[in-house]
Amino acid sequence: MNNKSNYLRAAVSSIAVAGATILPGLAAASGADLYEENCSACHLENGAGDVDLMSPSIAGLDQEYILRQYSNVTTGIRVFTEDEAMAQGMVEIMAELSADDMNEISAYVAAMPIVAIEQEVGPIGFPDRGLYNNCSSCHGAKGQGASGLGAPRLAAQHSWYLKDQLMKFRDGTRGSHPDDTHGIQMRDMAVAIASDEDVDTIVNYIANFEPPSKDSNANAH
Ligand code: HEC
Ligand code: HEC
Repeated sequence: MNNKSNYLRAAVSSIAVAGATILPGLAAASGADLYEENCSACHLENGAGDVDLMSPSIAGLDQEYILRQYSNVTTGIRVFTEDEAMAQGMVEIMAELSADDMNEISAYVAAMPIVAIEQEVGPIGFPDRGLYNNCSSCHGAKGQGASGLGAPRLAAQHSWYLKDQLMKFRDGTRGSHPDDTHGIQMRDMAVAIASDEDVDTIVNYIANFEPPSKDSNANAH
């Protein structure tokens, strides 16, 4: 009996200790916890995304870019069809999150190391670099992105996703909304690509880039 009450007292005091450390954490959930709860099922624990889940790599993207996509997704600037079930799932989840939550999550995602993606890459032909020259002023010679211009990293992004987005910009699904200042810039560039074949060539060129270092996206060249 004495043993039992000692046990109870010990249990109660350890709950009190746990409460003291856990409760402040609940009041302001950490970016890591919020990510785990709301994002990792689709973008994976390391943020690398997965073709089977139709999700892009988001690890190490610029915080500002992530927050802009959150804003675009929740205000309907970046739209998805009924068929895009995974993206629709994200719209629902993001609509439930507060701006504070997204600040925490985006800081956590932006700090993730960029993950090397396994994907099929073809050889690069002589003229292919010329096509990418139209992109490098904003996205950087190595696809590292340029935070000052709002141009995201393209290197170490799934090539099926890059192609998808380029086709969306070309047909106006993305980059048509009058408030989508960044998307409109990008749409002009995508429309200027001469053919869908050239889109494939450019995407293959980008797929050959090495994952860039985290601090290389400050200035594009
Ligand atoms: C149900 C699956 C799902 C969940 C959950 C989800 N996403 Fe996504 N996310 C997607 C898909 C699919 C896309 C690609 C949409 C497209 O094809 O344009 C995407 C795209 C994005 C993009 C745009 C990437 C880019 O390069 O433009 C960001 C940023 C993003 N997600 C962040 C998040 C964050 C942060 C969370 C958690 C709050 C989250 N997602 C939760 C499926 C999901
Ligand atoms: C004038 C600057 C500029 C140029 C040049 C440019 N882009 Fe972009 N690009 C952007 C910006 C800004 C965004 C982000 C749009 C947004 O915030 O939704 C973007 C987004 C993208 C995306 C979507 C990435 C993602 O993660 O969802 C792809 C793919 C892309 N660009 C490819 C290209 C390619 C290929 C070229 C060359 C043919 C090119 N861009 C030229 C500025 C540019």
